[in-house]
Amino acid sequence: MKTLVTLTASALLASIAFAATVSPDGTCGGANGYTCLNSAFGNCCSQYGWCGSTTGHCGTGCNPAFGTCTNNPPPSSTVRSSSTPQPTPTKRVSTDGSCAGTNGYTCLGSTFGNCCSQWGWCGSTVDHCGTGCNSAFGSCTGNGGTTTSTTSTSPTPTPSGSVLQCLNTRNVPYKMTSDAGWADLIEPYNLRLPHTPAVVVLPSTNQHVQDAVVCAKQAGIKVQAKGGGHSYANFASGGKDGSMMIVLEAFNGIQLDASGVVKVGGGVRLGNLADGIWTQGQKALSHGTCPGVGIGGHATHGGYGHTSRNWGLAMDAIVKVDVVLANGTLVTASSTQNSEIFWGIRGAADSLGIVTSFYLQTRSAPSSITYFEIQFDGIFNSKATFTNTLLHLQDFARNASVVDNRISFGIYMDGYGSFAPSGAFFGSVSEFNTKIRPEFLRGLPTPTNVIVQSYSWYDYLVKVSGKNTIKVPLTGYDEHENFFAKSITVPESDGLTATSLNSLYDYIKRGTSVDYFIIINLYGGPGSAINSKDTNFAAYSDRHSLWVMQNYGFTANSITWINGLNDAVVKAQPQTQFGAYLNYVDPSLDAATAHKVYYGDAVYARLLALKKSIDPQSVFWNPQAIGA
Ligand SMILES: *[C@@H]1O[C@H](CO)[C@@H](O)[C@H](O)[C@H]1NC(C)=O
Ligand SMILES: *[C@@H]1O[C@H](CO)[C@@H](O)[C@H](O)[C@H]1NC(C)=O
Repeated sequence: MKTLVTLTASALLASIAFAATVSPDGTCGGANGYTCLNSAFGNCCSQYGWCGSTTGHCGTGCNPAFGTCTNNPPPSSTVRSSSTPQPTPTKRVSTDGSCAGTNGYTCLGSTFGNCCSQWGWCGSTVDHCGTGCNSAFGSCTGNGGTTTSTTSTSPTPTPSGSVLQCLNTRNVPYKMTSDAGWADLIEPYNLRLPHTPAVVVLPSTNQHVQDAVVCAKQAGIKVQAKGGGHSYANFASGGKDGSMMIVLEAFNGIQLDASGVVKVGGGVRLGNLADGIWTQGQKALSHGTCPGVGIGGHATHGGYGHTSRNWGLAMDAIVKVDVVLANGTLVTASSTQNSEIFWGIRGAADSLGIVTSFYLQTRSAPSSITYFEIQFDGIFNSKATFTNTLLHLQDFARNASVVDNRISFGIYMDGYGSFAPSGAFFGSVSEFNTKIRPEFLRGLPTPTNVIVQSYSWYDYLVKVSGKNTIKVPLTGYDEHENFFAKSITVPESDGLTATSLNSLYDYIKRGTSVDYFIIINLYGGPGSAINSKDTNFAAYSDRHSLWVMQNYGFTANSITWINGLNDAVVKAQPQTQFGAYLNYVDPSLDAATAHKVYYGDAVYARLLALKKSIDPQSVFWNPQAIGA
């Protein structure tokens, strides 16, 4: 991670030497490389990457590359026009119970207590005035110097105080660093990207979520929800230290109604969802294979699986959501109610609200489904074999005489020479073997192993999960990996060319000590239900891909190599407008690039307008959020 940040920042510095973008959201440096100079938040970029004008920002650790490091006049007067140094502005008295941090409030004279704790909250207890007390933003001697707040602006209208006091007042369950279980709570799925939240909220009711969002908003803390917590960039814990992480673990209800619509809590994991709707009514949904992934992130940012060419993405099954907005209001959104929010949530929920319940239109599970896996050896023995094999599979994927919506597959390959397309067919084994298999294999090297097998729906789910069961424990989920991944969406109009496949082959053959895999999933082709929709349906722009390629490397050592692998494809096809898939969110992208490759300009512009109208203060934030 350190390497990544350094590389990105210096690369950005090189390219933006004289024209860094002024911070629109209070962040600085980092992947976006925003400067604080002339920003509305203050001119100094703190060591933690926030703009401000306090000594916390301009003093020790201040980053001169993204602002100035001398105490500045308030941002209303322009820096350049003042030739004489301004006096250090008096720190503003905390109006919300927070201190230091982004706002740089002092506790001295505040209504919350005079001591600023190590966590950035005002109070007068030993927790505030004892170990770790920050003397730059208050006193550290008990309640010393009881000042009356003659200069302070009026306190916030609620009795909230700091975010913790606010949560306490509203009886919202939460955990802090000192609490038992904290380390497990914040341990991310992707161990490469740990972040330490300011507080972890553990709501069990909608009202708790609403209250937590209000408390965070009042305290100026950013919020992200954690459903399954599988975000490749660990956005569930904010994507940066100091956020409020709202863990939706208790939102685990699954209730199927007579019309086949299932109400699903925002914290339900895919395995439990599939198990629940099967058990309650032999129903099924389209979604990915990993049982531990949460419905929240998965369905609001796409949601591909090997039933998606038939049934669409997980997102496409959403008929309604209950969502908590940045002002703490709980609304229902559907195609007829709050329809713009409904549009935006399906593509950008991380920036727009917290879905506490989904309402999903299920399907009747098929009585059986055909699983197939075709393993090859020696595909990497020659460039011609590699490229021609993939070009043939691409022809196959586009061939309407053999492919319709009933078939999906992905091509798995890795550094050990594996090459194995596998997928699902909504038809019989005999139809697959007589109609599809001959064309699939035509002209290819003889496979070493061909598996074509019929499964009951439930057994199929277990099979593709790679586990013994799709059920996942409701608490104490403890699966982790250490990885870097990114993706390429390949437009149907272009496909992959021989040139880019040759380039990919050359890159792979250079060799690496990195452990990696590549999966090229079929999204498009004749009859694809994914591509039968467009961006009017949802804020999801990837409705025209033939393939979506996932490039996945283990440990931080893989970053450079995986980036190079992406480049090997993308740069060999400069005429093609490649994008990227939201659910393989790539933390190495700066915000502007992320917005472009995930959404495209038109969808992004519409999302930005929505964001400004329902979350003008960017309460819901991560480094690639709408508006970041
Ligand atoms: C499509 O599949 C049919 C049936 O196998 C085959 O005859 C035909 O050549 C294929 N078309 C292309 C363009 O590969
Ligand atoms: C909260 O925000 C929504 C969306 O902007 C708005 O419709 C609603 O009126 C707001 N509620 C309150 C209480 O301000």
